This record gives sequence, C-alpha cells and structure tokens, in this order.
Amino acid sequence: MSSFADPPLVLVTGGAGFIGSRLSSLLVAQGFTVRILDTLSPQVHGSVPENLGWLNNCSIDFIRGSVNDKSDIERALAGVSAVVHLAAETGTGQSMYEISRYNFVNSHGTAQLLDALSLTRSHSVSRFVLASSRSVYGEGSYTCNVCSDPSNRLSPPPRSAEQLASHRWNPICIACGSDLLSVPTQESDPVRPASVYAATKYAQEDLVRIVCQSIGVDHSILRFQNVYGEGQSLMNPYTGILSIFSTRIRRGLDLPIFEDGLESRDFVHVDDVVRAIVASISSPSPMSGIVNIGSGLGTSVTDVAKGLMTALGIEVPLRVTGEYRVGDIRHNIADISRFCTLLPGGPQISLAEGLARFAAWVKTQPLPDDLLESANNELRERKLMA
Ligand SMILES: NC(=O)c1ccc[n+]([C@@H]2O[C@H](COP(=O)([O-])OP(=O)(O)OC[C@H]3O[C@@H](n4cnc5c(N)ncnc54)[C@H](O)[C@@H]3O)[C@@H](O)[C@H]2O)c1
Repeated sequence: MSSFADPPLVLVTGGAGFIGSRLSSLLVAQGFTVRILDTLSPQVHGSVPENLGWLNNCSIDFIRGSVNDKSDIERALAGVSAVVHLAAETGTGQSMYEISRYNFVNSHGTAQLLDALSLTRSHSVSRFVLASSRSVYGEGSYTCNVCSDPSNRLSPPPRSAEQLASHRWNPICIACGSDLLSVPTQESDPVRPASVYAATKYAQEDLVRIVCQSIGVDHSILRFQNVYGEGQSLMNPYTGILSIFSTRIRRGLDLPIFEDGLESRDFVHVDDVVRAIVASISSPSPMSGIVNIGSGLGTSVTDVAKGLMTALGIEVPLRVTGEYRVGDIRHNIADISRFCTLLPGGPQISLAEGLARFAAWVKTQPLPDDLLESANNELRERKLMA
C-alpha cells in the first residue's frame, strides 16, 4: 500500500453494484476499510434490494446516498485516502432516450464529487480512480488491407443509419469503400463516442483529468471493456449481455442476436477488473492516465452465447435477427499492454473459466423475469432499433 492513513479508507461510489461489490470484498481482504456511497438504484437492485447482507461487514461503512447530493458526498469523503468512482447509469441503448438522466448521474454527479474535493482544501484524498469505458472509442481502431499499409491505424466514424439499414455491418474505408479490419485499440487512439452513455463517460474522463491535475490528486482512468461475472445484476435488462442471455437460456427462450452475430466484444472477468483497480490504488507510484482493462481478445456475440449455453448445460436456439441498435459498435478489442504493466501478468481468467464460474453462480440465483423484449420495444418505439 502507498502512504495512506492506517488502515486506509477507500470510498467506492456505486460500491453496492456489480463491480463495486466485488471490489469492496477484495479491498477488505487486503486490509483496507471501505466506505460505499450508493443509491441502490431499483433498475440494478430491484424495488426491494436483496442480497446485501455483505454490507454488514465491520470493515464496510455503507451510506445509502447519491453522487448527486452535496451533503451525501461531503459525508462520504470524510477521512478518505482514495476514491474509486463507479456510480453511473450504464445502459448504452437506454442512454439514447434518457439523455438528461444519464448526463445528470454520470457527468453532473462526477462534477459534484470533484466540486466537493476541490472545495475541501483539508481533504485527505491522494488517489482517484475513474471507471471509464471502452465505449469512448466508438468504433475503435481498424486497418484497411486493400488501399493502405496495414500499419496505418484508422478510427472510422460511427456507422450511419443508412449503412446499418443496408445491413452492411463492418465499418467502411472512406478511401476505397472496402470493409475495414478490426485491430486492438490503444489508449492513444482517437476518441469518438457513438452513444450518449459514451459521451458521459468521456465527460467524466475530462473532468477527472483536469480537476485532479489542478488540485494535485493522482488519478487513473480505467477504460473497462465488457465486464462479466458472478454478481452482475440479473434484473437489469438494459446492460450485461451475459446476464440477459443467462435468464433467457434458463427459461428455454431463444437468444436474439443483433446484426449478423459476428459483432465482437472483449469480455473481461470482474475479478481481473477489480485486481486492476486495487493495483491502481495501492501501487507505490501511481500509473496515471488512461489504461484499457480487457482480455485483449475479441469474441463474437454468437460464440459467447454458445459458450454460455455450454457452461449452463442448456441448449436454446440462436436467432440471428439482422436487427441493430443505434449507438452500438461493431467490434471491440483492447490493446492491454498498459494493463500488463499495471498488473504484471495481466488478466488471469480465460473466457471458458469465467463463463464456468458465472454459470455456476447463476444457477444459485432466483430465476428473474425476462425483460429483454420490453427493453428492446422501448428502443423500437423510439426508432433506435430496427
Ligand atoms: N460492467 C461493465 O461491463 C462496464 C463496462 C465499462 C464501464 N463500466 C463502468 O463501471 C462502473 C460500474 O459498473 P457496474 O457494471 O458495476 O454497474 P452497476 O449498475 O452494477 O453498479 C452501479 C452502481 O451505482 C449505483 N448508482 C447509480 N446511480 C447512483 C448515484 N447517483 N449515486 C450513487 N450510486 C449510484 C447503483 O445503485 C449501482 O449499485 C460504471 O461506471 C460503468 O459505467 C462497466
């Protein structure tokens, strides 16, 4: 641990959520004390939050409150050595029609947290870690193997509504019109948010970088890829593809897969993510700036759906629908060189092992209602899905 008070107190905003609960347990196991500031949002925790007995641990101080409430923030920051800012609204599709709510919680909530830090000259915070997202890259990095040198990295704009409507799924080379090839995205690659959610995550990044530099607080911005694993909300139909699919598989329902099913994501297990966060807090010299947190491997949505069925031991039909959502990206793979410097050895949990762990946990959970169709209908009604 670094030069923190003993025992160091870490504030985890959104700490009752998926990543935050896993993080809090690891922090406590490593000798930190943890303060959690969380609203227990009904979309994530249900209208009557359950499974929160772990918050009674004597090393955890739980405040039910909001990053949008000045007095909650002041209470939460007292005596804290490090802040891990996870609290956010997290649904990409939902963000496209709940614009002010996403902006209020994600952008304004971060601004209020930083306001409190910068106004409290006597604060004890020396490190600030932000949970950002790979979504800030938009389509991410590509090459054109037809008209340019493959070492020439391109950052295509979001796919247009016309392109998606014509079912031409891959980003296109503006020079020669060929399909581009996805390559791992580096932290130095351009940022091109394609959704409101992504825009708010990028706003958070800018706020954290500028304010932390100005008040002399070390900061790390971790761009998480698709995080999955035990503890992910099974009742939130707006995010978490593996949780959503697990409910449909257990109910014997088919799995609707967007586009042609070959769109890919970089799936990283939550335990690799929380180890990266703890390393960001506790390394003697902080790794400042931006770090991609992923597996470094792309997996198609079709393949991950099949892997999950295998792990659960239940087969249901896959239905490739040809539908698409405005704001979605095509492919996503992180360059994880900086992650491997932050955490020597990098990610440890393979997708097969992670899916097995996730499936074993899912089987212990009550079977939730399947809300995917109603969430998709909200998008269709607003012409954000076709
Ligand atoms: N899970 C992923 O795949 C992923 C990927 C990229 C980035 N992230 C980022 O990681 C962070 C955590 O994500 P997660 O998957 O654990 O989400 P989650 O929804 O499980 O947890 C978020 C928590 O924040 C709380 N919250 C919501 N609004 C709040 C407010 N105003 N004040 C305080 N608490 C509030 C919720 O009650 C919830 O417990 C988010 O910032 C998200 O954008 C997650």
